[in-house]
Amino acid sequence: MLLPFTLILFTLQFTTSMNTGKPGCLTKCGEVTVPYPFGIQKGCSIDDSFELTCDTTSNPRKLFLNTSQNIEIYSINISGSDMKVSNSVAYNCYNKSGDIATDEDFTQIQYNLQNTPFTFSQKNKFTVIGCDDFAIIEGKSRVNFSGSCVGICSKKSDVRNGECSGIGCCQTPIPKGVKSYVAGVSSFNNRTDVKSFNPCSIAFLGDTESFRFRGAPDLFINYTDVVRRNSVVPMVIDWEIGGNGGCAQATECKGNSFCNDTGMGGYNCICNQGYEGNPYLDPGCIDINECLDKQKYPCYGDCINTEGSYGCTCKPGYTGNGTIPDNCRLNVISGGSKFPAKVFSLALVFGSLAILSGITGIFLAIRKRKLIKLRKTFFEKNGGLFLQQKLNAPEATYAVTLFTTEELQKATDNYSEELIVGRGGYGLVYKGILPDKRVVAIKKSILVDGTQAEQFIHEVSIITQVIHRNVVKLLGCCLEEKVPVLVYEFISNNTLFYHLHHRSGGMSWLSWENRLRVAAEAASALAYLHSQATMPIIHRDVKSANILLDENYTAKISDFGASRLVPLDHDQVTTLVQGTLGYLDPEYFHTSQLTDKSDVYSFGMVLAELITGKKTISADRTNHEKHLATYFVKSMKENRLLQILEPQLLREGTLEQLQTVAELVKRCLNLLGEDRPTMREVAMELEGLRKFTTHPWFPQQTPEKSRSLTLEVEQYDLYDVSLIPYSSNEY
Ligand SMILES: *[C@@H]1O[C@H](CO)[C@@H](O)[C@H](O)[C@H]1NC(C)=O
Ligand SMILES: *[C@@H]1O[C@H](CO)[C@@H](O)[C@H](O)[C@H]1NC(C)=O
Ligand SMILES: *[C@@H]1O[C@H](CO)[C@@H](O)[C@H](O)[C@H]1NC(C)=O
Ligand SMILES: *[C@@H]1O[C@H](CO)[C@@H](O)[C@H](O)[C@H]1NC(C)=O
Ligand SMILES: *[C@@H]1O[C@H](CO)[C@@H](O)[C@H](O)[C@H]1NC(C)=O
Ligand SMILES: *[C@@H]1O[C@H](CO)[C@@H](O)[C@H](O)[C@H]1NC(C)=O
Ligand SMILES: *[C@@H]1O[C@H](CO)[C@@H](O)[C@H](O)[C@H]1NC(C)=O
Ligand SMILES: *[C@@H]1O[C@H](CO)[C@@H](O)[C@H](O)[C@H]1NC(C)=O
Repeated sequence: MLLPFTLILFTLQFTTSMNTGKPGCLTKCGEVTVPYPFGIQKGCSIDDSFELTCDTTSNPRKLFLNTSQNIEIYSINISGSDMKVSNSVAYNCYNKSGDIATDEDFTQIQYNLQNTPFTFSQKNKFTVIGCDDFAIIEGKSRVNFSGSCVGICSKKSDVRNGECSGIGCCQTPIPKGVKSYVAGVSSFNNRTDVKSFNPCSIAFLGDTESFRFRGAPDLFINYTDVVRRNSVVPMVIDWEIGGNGGCAQATECKGNSFCNDTGMGGYNCICNQGYEGNPYLDPGCIDINECLDKQKYPCYGDCINTEGSYGCTCKPGYTGNGTIPDNCRLNVISGGSKFPAKVFSLALVFGSLAILSGITGIFLAIRKRKLIKLRKTFFEKNGGLFLQQKLNAPEATYAVTLFTTEELQKATDNYSEELIVGRGGYGLVYKGILPDKRVVAIKKSILVDGTQAEQFIHEVSIITQVIHRNVVKLLGCCLEEKVPVLVYEFISNNTLFYHLHHRSGGMSWLSWENRLRVAAEAASALAYLHSQATMPIIHRDVKSANILLDENYTAKISDFGASRLVPLDHDQVTTLVQGTLGYLDPEYFHTSQLTDKSDVYSFGMVLAELITGKKTISADRTNHEKHLATYFVKSMKENRLLQILEPQLLREGTLEQLQTVAELVKRCLNLLGEDRPTMREVAMELEGLRKFTTHPWFPQQTPEKSRSLTLEVEQYDLYDVSLIPYSSNEY
C-alpha cells in the first residue's frame, strides 16, 4: 500500500528538481528545499563547506549547517544568495520574588563562522528588548567592531507597538562581513522597578524582516516563554562561493547569469534580468515567460515573449502603451499624407533636434536656478541669516568662515570615499585641503532639524570663540547644504581610544608620564569650558574617542555636537538624555538634569580607561562587571586595585601616584553629582601629580613618530557626536 505513494513522491521530487540539484541528489530535507550549490550527500554540493547535515531522527526532518554550533536552516534563497537560520538569544530572567530564574548563565552568546563561506548578513540587526537593559555586541569583520543598545522605560504605557526606538526596544545595525560575534545583555538595576511588566532582558542578532516589536506583550515574555520558544529567533546568513579572488576565479556561473563579487573574497552567480532558475547548474537560467504572469507583468494588448524580456503592443489598428489599462486608442491617422515621405521625415528629424536642444537648454537653466534656490533655502533653514546677523552686529568679536559648497567639494575631491577619516552614527568626517593648503577635517553631520537651527548657530558662534590649546578649533561652516557642514582643524594622530585599544603591538608612547599629561591636558580644557565667563559650556559627550591627539601627542577635546550652554542664572538644565553608553552619568540619566558634574563623571571613566587599559563596557567581563565603573569601584573596595591596572604602569609609576589617581577616579564616579569634585579640582590634582613625575634631570622623551599620517577608518566616533541618543520623557 505504501509503495506507490513513496514512488510518486520520488518521481515528483526528481522532476521538479530538474534545475534544483545535481542529478541523483536529494533536494529536500523535511520541508526545506536544498538547491545546488548546497547538498546533503557526499559529492552533491559544490564543495565540502556547502554540505549540510539533514537530521533524520526528528520529524519532520531538520536541516543544519555543518558547524559545531546548532544552527538550523529554515530556507535557502538562491537568487538572494542568503538563507534563513535559527539564532540563539541572550537572556536573563527574573521571577516574581526577584531572583534570577535559572542557575545557568545565558546572558552571553557567541557564534563563530570563521573559515566557512558564511557571514552574518546586514539584513540582521542587533536588538535588545527590555526596560532596564543594555546589551553589547562585539565581533570581527575585516575590522573589529562593537555596538551597543539600550532599552529603557519606566512603565508599560511608554512603549509603542511596532516602534523599536529605544523605549523598551532598541536596534542597531552590524557592519558588512561579520564572521563571528559575542553578545551579552545585562540590566542596569536588577529589574527592580520593572519586573512586574518586564521579567526578562533579551538580546539577539535577528532578521529585521521577521521581527516587529509588539510592545507590551513582548516585554511581558517570561522565562517559561523563552524556553518554550527554544530561545531562538530567525536570522539571515549570506553565503558566497570561493575563498579569494572574487569573480576572477569564477568558473561556476552557467548560461544567462553573471558573476557578482561579494567584496569579501568570494562571489555569487545571479540570473540575468528576465531569467530565472539555478545559475550554478547546467543549463543555467532560463527565460521567464512574462506573458504567463499578467499580475507581475501587466499587458492589456498583445503580449509577445522574447528572450530575456517581452513586448506588449496594442492590438492592430490601435496605438498607445499596451502596459497601461485603457491606453490603447483607435488609429485615426490612416491613409498617406501628400508630402514625400523622405522630406517629411528629414524635416521631422531636424525639427525635433532643434526643439530638443532648446528644451535641454531651458531645462538646464531651470535646474541651475533651482539649485541656487535650493541652496538659499538650506542656508536659511540652517540658520544662516541668524548667523549673518550675529556676525554683522557691532558687538561681534569673532569670525566664522562661511564656506561655499564648491569650496568644500573641491577640498574633499567631491566628498571622495578615500578621504573619509571618521564614521559614526551621526555623520562622516572627511580630510580636506583648502585652496590655501590648510589641512582640515570636514564633518558632514545630520544633527540639526529645522527647529534647532538657532541653537546650532548659537553654539557654532560660541565654540569658535573657545580658544584653548587643548580644544579642537572650529574654523567655519557651510550652511548651503541640506545639513550644516562643519570645518575643523585637522588633528593627525587619531584618538586616545584608538591608542588605548586598537594600536597593534610594538612600543607605545603611552607611558605613565604621557598618560598623566594627556589626562591633565584634557581636564584643563574641560575646566576651561566649564568656567567660561559668559556662558559655561557642558560638553556632554566626554569619552576617549573624543580626545584627539596631534602630531606631538597633545590632547585636543573635540566634538561639541552634543554640548549645551548653561545660562549663568541656572546651574542646571533639563535636556533629552544624550551621551555615550559606558560614559554616561547615571544621575543625569535618571533625572535628565544636566550639570557640569556629568562631564566629571564621564571624565572619570576616561581616567579609569587610561589607567586600566580596559574598555568602559566589555562583554569579556562577567555579568555585573561589564561596566568598568562597577568593576573598578568593586576592585578598589576589595583591595584588588593593583590587579586591574595596566601592568606597564606598575613598573613606571609609584604606588602612591597610582593610588591617588584611582581615588580621584572613584570620586569622579560618585553616584551623587554634588559629591564629585569640580573639573578644576580634577585638573589641578592631575597637574600636581605631573609635576611630581617630571624629572627635569631626565631628557624629555620625544614621542614615537606616528606610523602614518593617513588615519584608518574607525568604527568608533572621530569628531563625532553621541552614539545612542534616547529620550526619556518619563524621568
Ligand atoms: C564539515 O565541514 C568540515 C570543514 O569544512 C569538513 O571537513 C567535514 O567533512 C564536513 N562534514 C560533513 C559531515 O560534511
Ligand atoms: C530571495 O531573494 C530575492 C532577492 O533578494 C528576493 O527578491 C526574494 O523575495 C527572495 N525569496 C524568498 C522566498 O524570500
Ligand atoms: C525564584 O527563583 C528562585 C531561584 O531559582 C527560587 O528559589 C524561588 O523559589 C523562585 N520564586 C518563585 C516565586 O518562583
Ligand atoms: C581584533 O581584536 C583581537 C583581540 O580580540 C586582536 O587580536 C586583533 O588584532 C584585532 N584586529 C584588528 C584588526 O584590530
Ligand atoms: C544586582 O544583583 C547582584 C547579585 O544578585 C548584586 O551583586 C548587585 O549589587 C545588584 N545590583 C544592583 C544595582 O542592585
Ligand atoms: C509566563 O507567562 C505566561 C503567559 O505569557 C503565563 O501563562 C505563565 O504562567 C507565566 N509563567 C510564570 C512562571 O510566571
Ligand atoms: C552584488 O553584491 C553586492 C555586495 O557586494 C550586493 O550589494 C548586491 O546586491 C549584489 N547584486 C545582486 C544583483 O545581487
Ligand atoms: C509604457 O508604460 C510603462 C509604465 O508606465 C513604461 O514603463 C513604459 O516605458 C511605457 N512604454 C512606452 C513605449 O512608452
